[in-house]
Amino acid sequence: MNRSYLRLGVNIDHVATIRNARGGLHPDPLRAAKLAEKSGADGITAHLREDRRHIGDQDIEQLRNEIDLPLNLEMAATEEMLEIALQHIPHAACLVPEKREERTTEGGLDAAGNFDQLGPFADQLGAAGIRLSLFIEPDPVQIDAAKALGAPVVELHTGTYCNMPEGSTERDETLNEIIEAAAYADQLGLECHAGHGLGFDTVGPIAEIASIVELNIGHFLIGEAIFGGLESTITRMRALMDNARSNAVGDRSA
Ligand code: PXP
Repeated sequence: MNRSYLRLGVNIDHVATIRNARGGLHPDPLRAAKLAEKSGADGITAHLREDRRHIGDQDIEQLRNEIDLPLNLEMAATEEMLEIALQHIPHAACLVPEKREERTTEGGLDAAGNFDQLGPFADQLGAAGIRLSLFIEPDPVQIDAAKALGAPVVELHTGTYCNMPEGSTERDETLNEIIEAAAYADQLGLECHAGHGLGFDTVGPIAEIASIVELNIGHFLIGEAIFGGLESTITRMRALMDNARSNAVGDRSA
């Protein structure tokens, strides 16, 4: 695994949120995905929610057929989503918890508590050659469950860290939990990703964690693109990640 390079998955859900506000075709998530590729993204992430509030089925089909970058499909563990994943065979599928009433994914998946229910999803996605990731809290119990489920990848939820006031003890403590969880996942042979809530001001300390090899970032990039344009926003995020990565901590491959 190349730990000196940190991959960026650009989540384009909120391009679709804006499009759906008027019900037409503009702005087009596919166009955003193509621009993201040009701007230094290493993958495209899209969350097909049960209520289709942003990304729709047609978007998944277009992204799968028309972009060259790997597609990471975020999905709830439901029969409907499993069928869609097996139909399109994205490069990766990230299982996330989903509640209709939430504004965004509120916490990590309780992989330990829902172990028996998740087993058949993990097995079928894995058997189809889809790289399975579980979006979990930075908690060793959840990492153990992901490993036991046979997921090759975990994505650590960075939302709590991002929501803490800058410079606060709470933020430092949450960051430490992420550092320790990433090291533990690495020790178990799991590939470690991270995401949720990351922006220019919060990405650095996460990008410095050498055992994290991919970040998935959406809302901030799409929101900031209103002011700076998508290409320059992604380019700047990429530069911040690369810069922080050069200070990476715990890089055993160096
Ligand atoms: N990773 C996962 C698993 C997510 O569910 C999301 C939100 O869809 C993200 C990353 C990106 O979070 P944000 O949009 O806050 O950058």
